[in-house]
Amino acid sequence: MDPRPIGVFDSGLGGLTALRELHALLPGEELVYFGDTGRVPYGSRGEEVITRYAREDAAFLLEQGVKAVVCACGTVSSVAGEALRRETHCPFVEVVGPAARAAAAATRNGRIGVIATAATTRSGKFPAALAAMDPGLQVYSLACPLFVPLVENGHIAPGDPLAVPAVEYYLRDLGERDIDTLILGCTHYPLLAPLIRDFLGEGVTLVSSGREAALAAGDTLREEGLLSGRQTGGSCRYFVTDSAGSFSSVAEVFLGEPVTHVTPVDISGLEKLKLGKEA
Ligand code: DGL
Repeated sequence: MDPRPIGVFDSGLGGLTALRELHALLPGEELVYFGDTGRVPYGSRGEEVITRYAREDAAFLLEQGVKAVVCACGTVSSVAGEALRRETHCPFVEVVGPAARAAAAATRNGRIGVIATAATTRSGKFPAALAAMDPGLQVYSLACPLFVPLVENGHIAPGDPLAVPAVEYYLRDLGERDIDTLILGCTHYPLLAPLIRDFLGEGVTLVSSGREAALAAGDTLREEGLLSGRQTGGSCRYFVTDSAGSFSSVAEVFLGEPVTHVTPVDISGLEKLKLGKEA
């Protein structure tokens, strides 16, 4: 039994897709969410910058005394996931492996689409993970760079006049590839899932990378004997690197409940802190 909180981080709001699932799965656990809203988006940046930001994010969570780190960001998972796993002294869960496993299990015709940020798509991590599971899978990978700013600015409602044309613009070709499964490889994208479903139709199974990371985190905590043993009453504290107000207003729409306890923090320089293991 371990009463310490579980830490979840992302560049911004996307990691809430993992947080919401984690809370539903383990309602007694304390959660700490960190969104680097002052520096989002990560997905258009280079590897060195993403890795530096990721180390600062993880170091901040470890400073809060978390018992596990959930990297609820496809970009960080793809670019810096291996480094963070090596350097973090507690269980570390990322999104690529869990989402790829879920997609490989879900597909019936072996044709899988992956949409993600430019950095994730460039890394080739999702196609590599899927090929390792089943070399016969056909994978179509696509970057949708405007989805993150749309989500961060609250354009997530079905019929939204900015988001609908963006979904059509990016997914038109994918719609003709006869895929039956689509990995939402950026954790922001499940906030656009209703619009994506409207465009692609019910025949395509959408795999939320945030949800799959949460399920994997639950399994890891259970296996490691790190659950708190509490069945209800878990709460969440939020930390962001930009103003609390804009984060709360979109987060409340997505989570469907008031988002209180949002604290703005400055984490620059935290990379210098050791993550707990020698790199
Ligand atoms: N949620 C992040 C991801 O999963 C968004 C990346 C970004 O900030 O561009 O990739």
